[in-house]
Amino acid sequence: MQEKLKLLEDKIAEAQKGGGEKRIKAQHDKGKLTARERLHFLMDENSFEEIGMLVTHRSTDFGLDKQKILGDGVVTAYGTVNERLVYAFAQDFTVLGGSLAEAHAEKICKVMDLAVKNGAPLIGLNDSGGARIQEGVVSLGGYADIFYRNTLASGVIPQISAIMGPCAGGAVYSPALTDFIMMVENTSYMFVTGPNVVKTVTHEEVTSEELGGAHTHASKSGVTHFTFQNEIACIEGIKKLLSYIPQNCEDPLPHLNYKAGDENRPQLSTIVPDNANQPYDIREVIEGTVDTDSFCEVHKDFAENIVVGFARLAGRSIGIVANQPAFLAGVLDINSSTKGARFVRFCDCFNIPLLVFEDVPGFLPGTDQEWNAIITNGAKLLYAFSEATVPRITVITRKAYGGAYDVMNSKHIGADMNYAWPSAEIAVMGAKGAAEIIFKKEIQGAADPVEMLKQKEQEYADIFANPYRAAARGYIDEVIKPEQTREKLIRAFKMLENKADRLPKKKHGNIPL
Ligand code: HXC
Repeated sequence: MQEKLKLLEDKIAEAQKGGGEKRIKAQHDKGKLTARERLHFLMDENSFEEIGMLVTHRSTDFGLDKQKILGDGVVTAYGTVNERLVYAFAQDFTVLGGSLAEAHAEKICKVMDLAVKNGAPLIGLNDSGGARIQEGVVSLGGYADIFYRNTLASGVIPQISAIMGPCAGGAVYSPALTDFIMMVENTSYMFVTGPNVVKTVTHEEVTSEELGGAHTHASKSGVTHFTFQNEIACIEGIKKLLSYIPQNCEDPLPHLNYKAGDENRPQLSTIVPDNANQPYDIREVIEGTVDTDSFCEVHKDFAENIVVGFARLAGRSIGIVANQPAFLAGVLDINSSTKGARFVRFCDCFNIPLLVFEDVPGFLPGTDQEWNAIITNGAKLLYAFSEATVPRITVITRKAYGGAYDVMNSKHIGADMNYAWPSAEIAVMGAKGAAEIIFKKEIQGAADPVEMLKQKEQEYADIFANPYRAAARGYIDEVIKPEQTREKLIRAFKMLENKADRLPKKKHGNIPL
């Protein structure tokens, strides 16, 4: 037995060396952790259980038979994060560049299947040169096996991807199919093809960082939802995100104990400026309303005219979607619509109630927007809200103009409670634009057109630049003082706690993609 135990210990020690000391040092020298180090930081102490440590590839081409490394370049495991079960895989760049082939993919598929069957989140720590070139088509097959599972698991369990190194080719598409992507600044890249191929095909000269670094994907493409300065911060970010979301689409939301106190928030009354054209930061409204320090913004640097993120209200998780008057006046455009829609759909998948703060002057006009399909993209947000069956509440803080009024979780598309602050203006458009159109003849024929425009603008504003017409119709359930917002929301979400709503029977809807 002793000999057999020794053999086992030797194999475990060999597997834990991954690609060897030299490659581990190279990994550390780049400011990166190894796959096992990452998983140990992620999971609670003593909870980490590795699966498939002794798996090897079966390939013999291009000398691979002499490069068999136990584990085949990916560590797969289960364990707990803050005492909740998770499944995870971490690609090991020290083994053939973390490249993915048959056995490596089979290991990932195994934990994915376990995660779905047992209803727990799947976390992928990606660090891979893409399809293992020496294994050819079986690498492509392995990727497709993962993509298929990512898709079937979508909406069943939360899937989170952290990018912790170069992720090229197939390595980017599994993360793209998951719910959230996190990237580490300066050490992680995502691209379908790297700078060399780009140069050959399009003659563009671009660095890896410019093409697919964390900053690029956070601000330009919107591919990543979060960026972090280093890997530890990224792993902490995963843990924080998990704290807001349930284990699966049927489990209850995690919530923290909350001791009710004075819920009045006088500071909310001084945020919206008297001048309706002056900006303010909607984050002040969000942070002034939700539990202290609970707001976790998602997609912070992308489409900043809409703010989305998780927060807690009286200890319970909610998802927030808010127009941002401090950026492009909070207008809805292509990127903000898709950003909002994706977030709404995530929350709805996992039964996270939605809170909307609305201050929106409408959709952004112009050829750029029209030619790039603001119609289709704006419809995504409309569709996402309309089909969401979670408790949904809207607070109109100021402008609710035009089609954007309908889109931003209006009563008409299924919101449960709609509040407005006294500063709300609910109309087809701003008073000046409206007056210019409907009083065009009077203004043109007036002795003093400027004075006439002013008069007509005031006339329109008196009727519509307030929440009372909408309240008279019941489109607004209550006009509330800003300071009452938190208390009203706590009560209303509690009232909606047992909401049961179903979409009409169908195979699935056809969101305008
Ligand atoms: C096999 C690979 C590999 C790969 C890297 N390695 N990528 N082995 N298949 N795809 C190996 C290298 O040979 C090297 O081995 C080790 O990993 C480290 O790689 P380096 O190049 O030394 O590291 P670095 O300079 O940091 O560059 C990392 C890299 C680069 C940017 C990822 O290696 C690279 O460009 N790799 C190829 C990327 C790629 O084109 N992948 C295929 C995409 S096609 P040694 O032994 O020297 O340490 C694809 C199709 C799927 O994925 C489509 C599905 C939809």
